Amino acid sequence: MATVEQQVDVDKLMQFVFKAVDEVGATLNTALVVMGDRLGLYRALAGAGPLTPAELAERTGTAERYVREWLNQQAAGGYVEYEADSGRYALPPEQATALTDEESPVYLPGFFQTAFGAVVDSPHIVEATRSGAGYGWHEHVHDVHEGCERFFRPGYNAHLVAEWLPALDGVVEKLAAGATVADVGCGHGASTVLMAKAFPQSRFTGFDYYDDSITTATERAQEAGVGDRAQFRKASAASYSGDGYDLVTMFDCLHDMGDPAGAARHVRQSLAPDGTWMIVEPRAGDRVEENLNPVGRAYYGFSTLLCTPSSLSQEVGLALGAQAGEARIRDVVLGAGFSSFRRVAETPFNMVFEARP
Ligand SMILES: C[S@@+](CC[C@H](N)C(=O)[O-])C[C@H]1O[C@@H](n2cnc3c(N)ncnc32)[C@H](O)[C@@H]1O
Repeated sequence: MATVEQQVDVDKLMQFVFKAVDEVGATLNTALVVMGDRLGLYRALAGAGPLTPAELAERTGTAERYVREWLNQQAAGGYVEYEADSGRYALPPEQATALTDEESPVYLPGFFQTAFGAVVDSPHIVEATRSGAGYGWHEHVHDVHEGCERFFRPGYNAHLVAEWLPALDGVVEKLAAGATVADVGCGHGASTVLMAKAFPQSRFTGFDYYDDSITTATERAQEAGVGDRAQFRKASAASYSGDGYDLVTMFDCLHDMGDPAGAARHVRQSLAPDGTWMIVEPRAGDRVEENLNPVGRAYYGFSTLLCTPSSLSQEVGLALGAQAGEARIRDVVLGAGFSSFRRVAETPFNMVFEARP
């Protein structure tokens, strides 16, 4: 014990302890942001000016005592501002944008909702880590699936039609004229619906191995008025139907698959000779040390709790991980016989690749 005390720098120890206090607060905040989103607390605060807890409770049909406690926690974390003189709380415009504007590229509730679902399911991953078994995407609570859709959609809204598709060689011209597109691993179809809205001459089929996601995606397409040109089918990436596709897309899902190499071979077979495979993956460097930053931290967290178990639950179980990096994706793609592979775009969260047969 005496030896340990001599080796410990007490200042560094206390810095670490206070960092941990902050992180426990942040962990609890994940549930409290989901609560604020679900109960409409942020939406009621947005643009309303400073409110008392009683006013906010009244506007949201909630219980004042809970709302007061929630507001204090949100104020302590800098999510809302507290006016000590009046005892009122306000949501600053920047927080209102990030927490309530679904059209904003930085809309955050889906990020929290996925993280919340991942934490709720984490006991399964503890067991899987003991046994080495996988845990399928379809086995997770609904917050993982819905949160994922809500998290990714704002980024796709901001970048897919305006930047990512135009960065691909000749693809926008084909889509405008009328192309056939397979969106593989489509989840709730956020990307499929967006493309179908932008390119009415083209035909889109979203494929996903999880049937509940196919049902939701079909509803989303109908709600968006593109049900005539965006269809959804249950199928795995290594065996979906159709051939001669002008474009095959995969959004944030290649690394979740058990057999990305098998999927890559199937994509090549299903493409027209001059077709294009667009792969969107979480942004990452090739080396671990390049990813030791806040985005990498979140992605390694999702990768441990969602992506790696998903891949391990499927045949082959390659488990690329959400921070695979460009070099490993390139190996998968070129190993399947594609003749070219290049990075065409990136954001702080995603990298976008083009592969040609
Ligand atoms: C992180 S989610 C991304 C969903 C969607 N592309 C998006 O961007 O919102 C990963 C998706 O890959 C799907 N998936 C995983 N393995 C698959 C496989 N082998 N074949 C088809 N889909 C798969 C999951 O069901 C899930 O919908």
